[in-house]
Amino acid sequence: MTRINRRHFLKAAGAAAAAGMVSGCAQPQHLTNQSSRKQGKSVIGLVVPKMDVVRVAYIGVGQRGYGHVKRMSYIEGTEIVAICDTHSEVLERSAKFLTDNGKSKPALYGNSEFAYKDMLTREDIDIVIISTPWKWHAPMAIDTMNSGKHAFVEVPLALTVEEMWQIVDTAERTQRNCMMMENVNYGRDELMVLNMVRQGVFGELLHGEAAYIHELRWQMKEIEHKTGSWRTEWHTRRDGNLYPTHGLGPVSHYMNINRGDRFDYLTSMSSPALGRVAYARREFDAEHQRNALKYICGDMNTTMIKTVKGRSIVVQHDTTTPRPYSRHNLIQGTNGVFAGFPNRIALESGGRGSFHDWDEDMSYWYKKYDHPLWVKMGKEAERNGGHGGMDFLMFWRMIYCLRNGEPLDQDVYDGAAWSVISPLSAQSVANRSESLEIPDFTRGDWLSAEPLGIVES
Ligand SMILES: NC(=O)c1ccc[n+]([C@@H]2O[C@H](COP(=O)([O-])OP(=O)(O)OC[C@H]3O[C@@H](n4cnc5c(N)ncnc54)[C@H](O)[C@@H]3O)[C@@H](O)[C@H]2O)c1
Repeated sequence: MTRINRRHFLKAAGAAAAAGMVSGCAQPQHLTNQSSRKQGKSVIGLVVPKMDVVRVAYIGVGQRGYGHVKRMSYIEGTEIVAICDTHSEVLERSAKFLTDNGKSKPALYGNSEFAYKDMLTREDIDIVIISTPWKWHAPMAIDTMNSGKHAFVEVPLALTVEEMWQIVDTAERTQRNCMMMENVNYGRDELMVLNMVRQGVFGELLHGEAAYIHELRWQMKEIEHKTGSWRTEWHTRRDGNLYPTHGLGPVSHYMNINRGDRFDYLTSMSSPALGRVAYARREFDAEHQRNALKYICGDMNTTMIKTVKGRSIVVQHDTTTPRPYSRHNLIQGTNGVFAGFPNRIALESGGRGSFHDWDEDMSYWYKKYDHPLWVKMGKEAERNGGHGGMDFLMFWRMIYCLRNGEPLDQDVYDGAAWSVISPLSAQSVANRSESLEIPDFTRGDWLSAEPLGIVES
């Protein structure tokens, strides 16, 4: 090895090690197919025996999980049997909500970080909803499936490439569902665009843009409990896209990712990390713990993904800078484009004017292309709330599928592919935006998997 090559090699090895370190373990790059470790059969299209009543348990009923308890209680054919949370205040709050609303008091767990394992020994639970801090997602999902229950996990599914594989392996070995609950796929606009894509309105798909741009610096003021108490730390541990799935989930469904196409490779780049340092200086005393942290996550991260069919996707993450919320939600085809935030459409044929101008009046498009699921359930979804109805619709659909013996709309491969962008983006950023292969969690089955249908349920 020449001196220059050796220096380059050592630098690259150091950066890769650092990326592994921030994500919790060193990650060999070529974890791409892993056929040799397969322990069961594919869970693409998994159907489990119909459940008359779906018996539900929860791990984590903080800000997000409490909303899930409420929403589930409105859905027919469900029974909430047990709840686990280490914070007694929020545990009691959920129990009270249920009893105040005429439901039975669920069994409560939470006297240790591992109390959820006691809950999982119960035999009267069918599904477990996991809404805990990110580091718990993988162990809790794996323990849930190993106990014979189906796991429904908040976003992101897990934090490292190895954790994604462990979850996929466990789902295949146990033949349990493990759905990452990407609620944004159930938004009215996202469902409409999916319907339009399936009807060929945009022509052949070429390019998508996805994002989670949401100013959340204020969460740094949550110290003991609530999201900011643990999420802030990730800004000191990983420089990359910390939260890729809200924008990417819908674009992936538009493009049939894991169902005819798949993510091939990515490259990622971050801006400097300045916003949280400045915010901490401005909002906290000099001695405050928020001023002792070293914020390393670039305020804006931009990742580019190439699919095997040659399509491109831009995914951005920024929870720090002062700017309006956006998930981009852009899909470009040979006949035109839809873009979100604000919604607009431009088409070469079939539009209402020149493709040089945006059509921003959505009422026409909703009337023509609202997704059948939204047409049927939209009013009820809006009434029951949760991000404009998408949360309720997601739950409604999960329960519908379980009670009617239908496959879920999102499977373990979706959750893994969408979430793995986080650790890989960090690894790419750490080494001058190196191009990294994205694992094929389906181990080749993406080629024969059917695209997600336009469900009429
Ligand atoms: N899909 C969405 O739109 C959306 C929105 C917000 C949050 N989330 C996700 O929801 C999850 C939870 O976020 P949050 O905002 O509710 O955070 P939170 O801190 O308010 O709630 C987490 C809860 O988990 C509990 N917990 C922690 N460790 C536990 C353990 N070992 N056993 C039992 N309980 C434990 C905490 O006591 C807390 O009540 C995160 O993964 C987040 O990314 C998703």
